[in-house]
Amino acid sequence: MSLYERRALLKFLAASPVFAGLAPFTDALADERTLASAAEALDVFDLEAAAQRLVPPAHWGYLQSGVDGDATLRANEAAFARYQLRPRRFVDVSRIDLSTEILGTKLASPIVYCPIGGLRSLHPEGDLALARAAKTQNALQIMSTQASFSVEDITAARGTPVWFQLYTTDQFEVTKKLVKRAQSAGCPVVAVTVDLPAGRNTVTATRLRREDTRICGGCHTVDENGNPQPNLASRPMFAGIDTQGLRVTSASLTWDFIKRLKDSTTMKVFIKGIETREDAALAVRHGADGIIVSNHGGRALESGRGTIESLPDVVQSVAGRVPVLVDGGVRRGTDVYKALALGASAVGIGRPYAWGLAAFGQAGAERVLDILNLELRLAMVGCGARTVREISAGSLIDTRPR
Ligand SMILES: Cc1cc2nc3c(=O)[nH]c(=O)nc-3n(C[C@H](O)[C@H](O)[C@H](O)COP(=O)(O)O)c2cc1C
Repeated sequence: MSLYERRALLKFLAASPVFAGLAPFTDALADERTLASAAEALDVFDLEAAAQRLVPPAHWGYLQSGVDGDATLRANEAAFARYQLRPRRFVDVSRIDLSTEILGTKLASPIVYCPIGGLRSLHPEGDLALARAAKTQNALQIMSTQASFSVEDITAARGTPVWFQLYTTDQFEVTKKLVKRAQSAGCPVVAVTVDLPAGRNTVTATRLRREDTRICGGCHTVDENGNPQPNLASRPMFAGIDTQGLRVTSASLTWDFIKRLKDSTTMKVFIKGIETREDAALAVRHGADGIIVSNHGGRALESGRGTIESLPDVVQSVAGRVPVLVDGGVRRGTDVYKALALGASAVGIGRPYAWGLAAFGQAGAERVLDILNLELRLAMVGCGARTVREISAGSLIDTRPR
């Protein structure tokens, strides 16, 4: 019996007065709403739904949470709707080229896998499955300091070195060790995350953790209230490092940190988490080789604006001196198009690939890129932009109230 026939039969039985109220049919119908394979997903939200059924509540909360009331998280997604696309006609769009170059490296598309810590909480093969997806897709992957696998293993799975995301820590000697290791593994870029200097209030994560009946202490260290704490010692990048009392970020850092970082490495230094024109100018003045406009996916400051709205300020301030990437709330290829039109050199995704990974491992992460690339391609066709370079601000209508 085909999937379609099975679904039709279940629908008939569930609707039949003879079987009215019988849970097995309605339950089976609910099962039908999930996907048999990654290829069945039509948009990234299909993969979100599939992932939610598989991931236990505490880990789901970790992934989905923003901070406080999740307003910045929502703002990231909602802000894209304030820009609309301007179609153009009679352009020869028989050949569309998504390829993109960042720092001389050619990538198949401008869509980048952003760093997410602890990916093994979503899929046993975590960052390695993602690296294999990045390899088949020729996509840029930025691994987290808190990755579930080491930079050496991830780079081996990707086939070429990935970018390394750096949490500053509060001990510069430790930071230097992390940076040296990434450099020795061949990483061309260290992207230092600067948007989380001193804690955050992840309410949604805490709420969902309370629904989880599993014992966290099996895998995590837990505080006296039973709340799991970041266990740095268990993260491969901290192997051989004394993590006693170590914090992943520091509240006291100032701009001179960038010079110290640059003096400790030959890698290019990108700053992840810039949102204003003033900070963009300071970043360039202090020697940043690139900027990632990001608010950590709405997981740092509450009541912030969507990153797509911060992007033009940063692009204007940087004035082409360094590449500007952006992430946050990208859920459609049209979102990617809008970010490119507003001056981004490339566009990052976090949760969407994590949904794919959680649901189907490597195939799911690949499917997310396939979907977004298809949607991007169609946006380019509609707007008459044949290459990523041809995407310009002229193809956007800014509907934000003045
Ligand atoms: C569960 C989770 C963990 C994350 N971990 C990191 C991290 O370790 N380092 C980092 O710089 N950003 C981290 N981020 C932020 C992402 O790199 C990225 O900025 C964000 O997810 C983009 O927003 P989006 O999820 O709406 O696409 C994390 C995001 C999520 C959702």
